[in-house]
Amino acid sequence: MTSGKKTIKTLFQMKQNGQPISMLTAYDYTFARILDAAAIDIILVGDSLSNVFQGNETTLPVTLEEMIYHGKAVMKAVKQAFVVIDLPFGTYQVNDSEALKNAIQLVKNTNAQAVKLEGGQEVSQTITKIVQSGIPVMGHLGLTPQSIHQLGSFELQATSQEAKDQLKADAIALERAGCFAIVLEKIPAELAAEIANSISIPIIGIGAGNGCDGQVLVINDLLGLDETFKPKFVRNYLNLNASILEAVKLYIKDVKNKNFPNTNESY
Ligand code: KIV
Repeated sequence: MTSGKKTIKTLFQMKQNGQPISMLTAYDYTFARILDAAAIDIILVGDSLSNVFQGNETTLPVTLEEMIYHGKAVMKAVKQAFVVIDLPFGTYQVNDSEALKNAIQLVKNTNAQAVKLEGGQEVSQTITKIVQSGIPVMGHLGLTPQSIHQLGSFELQATSQEAKDQLKADAIALERAGCFAIVLEKIPAELAAEIANSISIPIIGIGAGNGCDGQVLVINDLLGLDETFKPKFVRNYLNLNASILEAVKLYIKDVKNKNFPNTNESY
């Protein structure tokens, strides 16, 4: 392992010292190189690549082989960030042995440091099995996109008292099962803060307010690559969709007008 690379110990220490943890998704070498150079703490090779890279409506279709393909590309660029890869839908739900086999495949083939999977108490035994093999596991609660057909929509989760209690119980179950961190997606800020304050592992929020130990966004959303996707929890730091459109239009114009390449751009 490259010296200076972040580990789960680094992340625990950050939580203990009250240092917020930054996390972003990356799906390829170029973006991973830039994120790593910016000193991002965690890179997630998220199954959101099913949506933003493959153009699917949900995260369900992406396969283990495809996650490995993207994970390998990301890992070639990373020098300092801690890298987590999503176990895609269908690779950990059948039984614990299959889940362990698939988690090992993911880590063995990519060299990533950890895997992430979605769910609460119902996956706690699976998590323990994977953790006992030596692979760190990040949990994911709240809006869990792999269960979108069960949830019915991408709306705010854990709004009733019953659902809030369930989510708290799930977070405790994941900590006990051995997770090193948990992503909380699209839940009330107050609930996320309460969970972050009551358990010892880092809580990373997305649409979960400012009381979490860290924040994660999909890189495409941060860069404003899709002007049609504007949920409240996303902050666009750039409007790259418009910039790329403009750049490509200028290029087309230059080609059509025989303005590109000029003599300095020719041999
Ligand atoms: O797949 C993904 O990008 C994620 C983040 C939204 C946390 O799971």
